Amino acid sequence: MSERLYVFDTTLRDGEQVPGCQLTTVEKLEVARMLERLGVDVIEAGFPVSSPGDFNSVVEISKVLTQPVVCALTRGVKEDIDVAVDALQFAKRKRIHTGLGTSDYHIRYKFNSTRDEILERSIEATKYAKHFVEDVEFYCEDAGRTDNEYLARVVEAVIKAGATVVNIPDTTGYCMPDEFGAKIAYLKEHVTGIDKVILSCHCHNDLGMATANTLQAVMNGVRQVEVTINGVGERAGNTALEEIVMALRCRKEIGVDTNIQAKHIYAASRIVSNLMNMPIQMNKAIVGRNAFSHSSGIHQDGVLKNHSTYEIIDPKDVGVDPNTILLTARSGRAALRHRLQTLGFKVDDDRMLSLYKDFLDLADKKRYIDDDDLRLLLGVDRNKDKAIVVEYLNVISGKNVDHTAELGLIVKGEKKVGKATGNGPVDASINALKSILGLNMILREFTIQSISKGSNDVGKVHMQVEYEGRIYFGFGANTDIVEASLEAYIDAVNKFI
Ligand code: KIV
Ligand code: ZN
Repeated sequence: MSERLYVFDTTLRDGEQVPGCQLTTVEKLEVARMLERLGVDVIEAGFPVSSPGDFNSVVEISKVLTQPVVCALTRGVKEDIDVAVDALQFAKRKRIHTGLGTSDYHIRYKFNSTRDEILERSIEATKYAKHFVEDVEFYCEDAGRTDNEYLARVVEAVIKAGATVVNIPDTTGYCMPDEFGAKIAYLKEHVTGIDKVILSCHCHNDLGMATANTLQAVMNGVRQVEVTINGVGERAGNTALEEIVMALRCRKEIGVDTNIQAKHIYAASRIVSNLMNMPIQMNKAIVGRNAFSHSSGIHQDGVLKNHSTYEIIDPKDVGVDPNTILLTARSGRAALRHRLQTLGFKVDDDRMLSLYKDFLDLADKKRYIDDDDLRLLLGVDRNKDKAIVVEYLNVISGKNVDHTAELGLIVKGEKKVGKATGNGPVDASINALKSILGLNMILREFTIQSISKGSNDVGKVHMQVEYEGRIYFGFGANTDIVEASLEAYIDAVNKFI
């Protein structure tokens, strides 16, 4: 019988801090519901004092979730804790996550303070939070670079002050796996009362060690892991939920397991990627497009004889099923609604009307509509009611012709047209857009991915557009990659116009 490992998901807090990944409250609710379905134990819903939007999201998420603990982040100061308490007022099960930097880097340069003073402030913050909620998690920020002996003193002190969970973050992703495991073992051995609390870890991926460090921590006694879907998070990201869950399922001898319903992993990954405009690298473990595709002849031959020759995970276990039902233009509303329900989406009648129309438009272009297409269609609504809407786009393109685009837009309710040439159809379309708007914008990043395979597939485009020194992120999806690119550019422009 495996020991239980709690999963603390911080996609909506650490993940959402990433530039360009910001979500609206409605989008956060969609992710939160998905995480609940997935079976995570704790959802870090936001950092309420950081903005009214974050505050509001914690309130709304608290209202809708019934199973997971809803957690709000604070710095170790009273004002933050007061705001978090307010934001969590509707949560059925709530937690405050407070803390301070404990490494000498943080103590000296961030706080201009001393170890003793930070120890006192840690105790105070924990006691203060404990006035309002029973469940208080304390984080020792930059624990990865904190001296073990001092770290043990802080951990012991906050346990005495009432912390129920103590988080040991490798904030800068600096540790090596054996070193991080040894840090946890040190705390287990030297901190009085450590067995009364849940020890947690929160690893960043700056050196590509986040998953390895988290597993080492688990092997040395951590019983809560702080993770994000697809590993999204500050800089190089956080430990990926799917990697920890599946590593523990594949390597049962570790003797620890989570309550995650792995069959929802793939859907959760796609929802987060789509809503956050964050493409998933092709070879990403567990959820990348190539994670289960075998290209070499020897591997294909082996897998056909028996899948365990080259596969350690059955793709179906994480919700990747090549045999899922494909819908076509002949599928009716009932079939579409049924498929959406199977994927976990509830759609009201009004939304269904517009969705079915978008579905038929896409089915006309693409023949077979798969689950990823449906997730994209569900996201299309987000692009409505924006300042710029495309009326038409005519492109002339090919070998030995001038690439030319004619574009009709509605800009804040007013019809506008523009025409331009370029070094290709995408460039021509963007130049036509610029000729209409007359703004000085620079395209900084441009990636195109297809969802599955085949020339009739939907292309997903992610762009970064610079305007007045700031970067804006845009996303577009279409069977025509020129249209998808223009959509992505306009999505970015709609964020500042
Ligand atoms: O990386 C980190 O240390 C954090 C803390 C706020 C938990 O995100
Ligand atoms: Zn972090």
